[in-house]
Amino acid sequence: MSLLESAKKAAAFRAVDECVKDNDVVGVGSGSTVVYAVERLAERVQKEKLRLVCIPTSFQARQLIVDNDLSLGDLSRYPQLDVAIDGADELDSNFVAIKGGGGCLTQEKIVASCAKHFVIIADHTKDSQVLGEQYKKGIPIEVIPFAYVPVINKIKARYGGEIQLRMAKMKAGPVVTDNGNFIIDWHFPADKFDWKDVNTNINLIPGVVDTGLFVGMAHRAFFGYADGSVKEKICPA
Ligand code: 5RP
Repeated sequence: MSLLESAKKAAAFRAVDECVKDNDVVGVGSGSTVVYAVERLAERVQKEKLRLVCIPTSFQARQLIVDNDLSLGDLSRYPQLDVAIDGADELDSNFVAIKGGGGCLTQEKIVASCAKHFVIIADHTKDSQVLGEQYKKGIPIEVIPFAYVPVINKIKARYGGEIQLRMAKMKAGPVVTDNGNFIIDWHFPADKFDWKDVNTNINLIPGVVDTGLFVGMAHRAFFGYADGSVKEKICPA
């Protein structure tokens, strides 16, 4: 296993051990770090006979839940979650996260918003002072296909920076989300932004479904290191 994978696994295992208990309804995020969280959930269900219901944030998460024989739920039956565990592309010192590297940001945000505790798991490279310090791929924004050009123009006119429509591998066409939409990635300029304001304003543009800015959502974060150690951070507010 590579050093980065060991770091992800350490964070995921520790978060599942500390944050999940018997009878919990658990939100399952998306991405490569969450794979280890699901592995640990399945181990604990086997060994400790935990009774859990898992709510997926994406098609990938749903498959992980099913493949690991965990009990699958949905928000109609379980609109209130005890905990949601998810990866992040970056988390700054104010606990503002960029998410959506895998394009699942909207469902991830919905599930996180329904959880009493939202827990981020990541390798240590995602731990930043300011957004953009480590993560260079910009802020993902899910848009309705019909509106992607005007949305790009409006964000650029207001905030500057560069924005690309996310393309599939080999430029086979735009990436399409689980909701049938496009993703644009905003490479924001190196200004001092009020991310809460930015998130609100971008969400007001017609055609925007949601942004990958998670402001005031995460309660705890676990950052793993290759040697198996984990740094835990608790939201300052
Ligand atoms: C998917 C996400 C992921 O959680 C985020 O991209 C982190 O992924 P990984 O654990 O693979 O680094 O937001 O939309």
